[in-house]
Amino acid sequence: MYNLVVFASGNGSTLQSIIDNIKSHRLEARINLVVSDNENAYALERARENDIDTYVIKSEDKLLSVLEGYEINLIVLAGYLKMIGPKLIEKYTIINTHPSLLPNYGGKGMYGMNVHRTVVEAKEKFTGPTVHFVNSKYDEGKIISQTKVEILEDDTPEDVSDKVQAIEKIQLNQVLNKFVKGEIKNV
Ligand code: GAR
Repeated sequence: MYNLVVFASGNGSTLQSIIDNIKSHRLEARINLVVSDNENAYALERARENDIDTYVIKSEDKLLSVLEGYEINLIVLAGYLKMIGPKLIEKYTIINTHPSLLPNYGGKGMYGMNVHRTVVEAKEKFTGPTVHFVNSKYDEGKIISQTKVEILEDDTPEDVSDKVQAIEKIQLNQVLNKFVKGEIKNV
């Protein structure tokens, strides 16, 4: 079985999409653990409802020792806010999903609705989610997949967020399927 660990800081709708894909056998994998840096993350509730182990961890050393107890093929950052430390990057294959067409609108502070607001203010014609490998530079790892989404003239940041999030879940689960099948390997 292909073993995933998901890191999430917030609502966890991306985590939920992975859970749903696994349950409906569209993704032959299992989530062994959900980690958050935020004890109030709704993602934790979603994990518990599905009998997935959860941990709230804030330091890298604690994270490393907890992860040692699990089989892990891939770590997925699904709306995770905290910077990933160098020891973790060294030891595991880690991917992130980001809600803009990187390298545009990435980097510090570019998270969730902030990204969509900035994109709309800049009057961009296109945006879209990116899945990429995580390396030591924030949002700069090798790009695995991107999908373009058109922004209409009267789209609000909320409209853009809805469109991007819907496509983002499909894209991420397609990428995960490729990892499971061995079609994508580490960088
Ligand atoms: C997702 O759109 C993800 O791309 C974004 O946060 C959202 C999480 O939603 N991540 C980033 O912006 C990372 N820089 P969720 O909590 O409902 O899964």
